[in-house]
Amino acid sequence: MAAGDVLLSGEHIRRVLTGDVPATLVDDANLEIRTGEFVAIIGPSGSGKSSLLYILGLLDRPTSGEVMLLGQATSALNDDARTALRLKHLGFVFQAHFLLPEFTALENVLLPMQRAGMPDTEARARASSLLTDLGLKDKQNNLPRQLSGGQSQRVAIARALANKPSLLLADEPTGNLDTHSSAAVQDILRGLAHEAGRAVVVVTHDAAFAKSADRVIKIVDGRIVAT
Ligand SMILES: Nc1ncnc2c1ncn2[C@@H]1O[C@H](COP(=O)(O)OP(=O)(O)OP(=O)(O)O)[C@@H](O)[C@H]1O
Ligand SMILES: [Mg+2]
Repeated sequence: MAAGDVLLSGEHIRRVLTGDVPATLVDDANLEIRTGEFVAIIGPSGSGKSSLLYILGLLDRPTSGEVMLLGQATSALNDDARTALRLKHLGFVFQAHFLLPEFTALENVLLPMQRAGMPDTEARARASSLLTDLGLKDKQNNLPRQLSGGQSQRVAIARALANKPSLLLADEPTGNLDTHSSAAVQDILRGLAHEAGRAVVVVTHDAAFAKSADRVIKIVDGRIVAT
């Protein structure tokens, strides 16, 4: 893909909850993410940032509207097809790192490559090289409980990068980190966004982090109010 091509777009995305507590989580969101971009999503707590990110990451379905990934509409696809697309093109870093506690750092990074069917030797080499790049060469065989918060978050980033996603989506990846670890994770994400063919979207409450982005999308009450 050429720099500046549209990787992902959201068209008139709405996410409505019915039932006991009806709510509109995302209200007619329209946005485009292009290669080479580092985009921050900001907004008050409860404004719908995570809800939107989950929909863009094909982890949740909108009530109406369309998510286009690399020019392909995703709403009519079944769950298996959406999972396959996600494994191939998207990486997701959750606010809590969600590492599997019984697996080592290396094994956590290995899992998405195994799911995608990569040969074991190649997958292990890649997992090891990603962890080394993220400064965790000597922590590969540690279990998550033997890692600090910042180290765990870096393992989660390595895992999200395992299948070389075009688009990395991160939900408050620095939310639980000290200043030093936060700065390191910010640098990693910004660097990734500017690699050829890639883009990074990050939800953050950190004003300085958002300010360092190429573009800021602001959400209030489920609506995008500024891009
Ligand atoms: N299952 C649910 N039932 C009712 N309301 C819900 C449900 N899930 C989410 N909400 C509401 O949807 C709104 C958006 O939630 P969301 O998690 O997207 O916000 P957010 O912007 O990510 O907030 P934060 O910054 O605190 O993480 C919130 O007001 C929340 O209370
Ligand atoms: Mg959230």
